[in-house]
Amino acid sequence: MNITVAIIILFSLLHLVDIQAAPSIRKNYFAFDPFDDSTDADFLTFNGDSTSLQGVLHVTANKIKEPEKLINMSGRVMYSEPFKLWSSEDSNPTSFKSSFVINLEKVPRWNPAEGLAFVIAPDASMPTESFGGYLGLTNAATNGNQSNRIVAIEFDTEKQDYDPDDNHIGLNINSVISNKTVSLDVHNITLSPETSTNYQVWVHYNGTTKLMEVYMERQGVRKPEEPLLRETINLKNYVSQQSYFGFAASTGNYPHIQKNCVIEWSLEIDALNKESDLIWLKIGLGVGVPAGVILLVLCGVLYVNKRRRRRRRRSDEKSDVFDKSLRWLPGMPKEFKYKDVKKATNNFHESMRLGEGGFGIVYKGILNIENDTTATEIAVKQFSRDKIKSKDDFLAEITIIHRLRHKHLVRLIGWCYEKGKLLLLYDFMPNGSLDTHLYEASNQNTLNWERRYKILADVASALRYLHNEYDQKVVHRDLKASNILLDSDYNARLSDFGLARALDNGRNSYAELGLPGVAGTMGYVAPECFHTGKATPESDVFGFGAVVLEVVCGRSPGTGIDHHQRFYSLVDWVWLLHREGNIQEAVDERLRNEYVVDEAERLLVLGLACSHPIASERPQAQAICQIIGGTMSAPHVPPFKPFFTWPSMDASFRTAEGTVSTTILSSNGCSVNVTAEGFSSSPSSCL
Ligand SMILES: *[C@@H]1O[C@H](CO)[C@@H](O)[C@H](O)[C@H]1NC(C)=O
Ligand SMILES: *[C@@H]1O[C@H](CO)[C@@H](O)[C@H](O)[C@H]1NC(C)=O
Ligand SMILES: *[C@@H]1O[C@H](CO)[C@@H](O)[C@H](O)[C@H]1NC(C)=O
Ligand SMILES: *[C@@H]1O[C@H](CO)[C@@H](O)[C@H](O)[C@H]1NC(C)=O
Ligand SMILES: *[C@@H]1O[C@H](CO)[C@@H](O)[C@H](O)[C@H]1NC(C)=O
Repeated sequence: MNITVAIIILFSLLHLVDIQAAPSIRKNYFAFDPFDDSTDADFLTFNGDSTSLQGVLHVTANKIKEPEKLINMSGRVMYSEPFKLWSSEDSNPTSFKSSFVINLEKVPRWNPAEGLAFVIAPDASMPTESFGGYLGLTNAATNGNQSNRIVAIEFDTEKQDYDPDDNHIGLNINSVISNKTVSLDVHNITLSPETSTNYQVWVHYNGTTKLMEVYMERQGVRKPEEPLLRETINLKNYVSQQSYFGFAASTGNYPHIQKNCVIEWSLEIDALNKESDLIWLKIGLGVGVPAGVILLVLCGVLYVNKRRRRRRRRSDEKSDVFDKSLRWLPGMPKEFKYKDVKKATNNFHESMRLGEGGFGIVYKGILNIENDTTATEIAVKQFSRDKIKSKDDFLAEITIIHRLRHKHLVRLIGWCYEKGKLLLLYDFMPNGSLDTHLYEASNQNTLNWERRYKILADVASALRYLHNEYDQKVVHRDLKASNILLDSDYNARLSDFGLARALDNGRNSYAELGLPGVAGTMGYVAPECFHTGKATPESDVFGFGAVVLEVVCGRSPGTGIDHHQRFYSLVDWVWLLHREGNIQEAVDERLRNEYVVDEAERLLVLGLACSHPIASERPQAQAICQIIGGTMSAPHVPPFKPFFTWPSMDASFRTAEGTVSTTILSSNGCSVNVTAEGFSSSPSSCL
């Protein structure tokens, strides 16, 4: 047996290991959630009347003030890079998932028309004369022609002779005459209702089963169990191997117009472009596994013999692959040179140090961009656990954060992976973290009531995005005041995704972090986490509740409060005041009387509701936003704090293993042992 073959197979096995460790890296992925006009327009091709404005793609123009100018419009917005949809003649088409938020806004006193479509097309351009019933997809000359090579999902608000009604979705192949339509009236959905409504749409395509599924709901509502439209279609028969994704739309003649807006969009396609990796995979699976046992022994011998050299080579090889796949991810922010970051941070000088976050040290940096006289301030996170853990930490954070986009999440602007240095570059937030404003004397009085209220509303909207609006459910797992950063106008952005995980990859367990016990910060960690060892959206809500009480009361959840010579935790104290009917007494004294009583009471009650010991009783992020926004009343909170019971009655936690005592490390370094019995009382052992 040839030694080179053995090495090839060893490496191919290493590839398999890599794939399992970081599945999301092997996808084509981009997300505009929401669009950022200044940066995202570069990734898109605008055709016809389409334009983008203030975070919204107007696929037909934005002329609400002069509606007559919206007559006979058509446009297409396409992602500028094509995607390869199958690898060879005899392979299946690739699977993909796309999710987007649309608003087909009705113009008062005009009838809605014509519609919008999610489209897969052979190029990024569009046909002329595609207004009216042609939806920006085809025109009188090309409609129905097989050489169009387009497949689209239409959202149609105007009835043509061939349509069932003026409120339906359809699957279109090369034509605006749909192959399949689904009327939406029976589903209680009106595409273009009197009051402007955002709809979230999920389009899933499974290349193995060839099943195309379309789900739709009002934005903020969970994805429905059942798709509205489900159809088998072999994309290989209709579209080009290299295809573009985007949106097309049109309006009609007087008085039939509407605005056709796309507000968010993400797309995830199984990666095919890296032919070399596919070959590796084939060798790994086809040859490697059957011959694997014998070869592993052989490789083992080789491994012992040339251990040093091998190790160096192996890690080079791995980091090289890792590096390349990062660079190749569409929508990835910029890669920076280590020497530039070093310069920006004054060689990571102590004076530039901003603080420490999940597994890394954060420095301030000042980038001088070439051909630009202005300097940009950045925050640089340097991963600081040991080499292997740091790589995992870096990978975990970047795979989560690079595709999340929301105005209340801190923005990733770049990354650097060079010479074993792992760095993530974020927007610098001039007003630092929320906790410093609450507690540091020099920052006293910077947070008036209005700002505090707004900060909590901002964080709630970020949480709603993570839990509901993003296709994959993401848990942050480390919600606390020091992870909430403030920009120059005191707008809040949630930061530090070092512990965040997507729920559907099953890696929400704390154990995988390689830390003793449950990671997180005392006072912010939900009681059930100590039993399940797992983070959930409900445990994020618990952390949010702690932040709410902290911001309103101006006290840290980890400090004890002396109330008539008895010590209480913050939650227990507020609960006591709630029972006594004096909840207002909990409001930060430093605000004096300059706050809105109703709002303060609403927030305090909300904070208690989120701190409910039973996870299933806590409000969800969507409701939290409505409560803060004042469109829903504050939840009922019982006078006595319910006891934490284990196992809880909530079925979702039933599967947990037996109760054992767990060591928790809190941020201030104190280590506490919490047991099932011990936690039903307040964690005062940490005070
Ligand atoms: C379809 O389009 C192709 C290319 O534009 C053209 O050559 C062909 O004549 C068209 N077929 C029909 C039936 O119009
Ligand atoms: C469905 O699509 C195929 C492929 O383009 C087409 O030939 C056929 O006429 C369509 N059927 C209907 C009912 O529109
Ligand atoms: C139908 O939709 C409206 C919102 O447009 C909602 O208030 C109502 O509860 C829905 N009805 C049903 C039966 O789902
Ligand atoms: C496609 O469907 C098959 C069969 O149901 C399933 O095993 C596979 O995981 C699906 N693929 C994707 C990408 O969802
Ligand atoms: C819009 O298009 C229709 C059909 O081509 C045409 O009759 C009408 O005059 C057009 N309206 C305007 C305002 O251009």
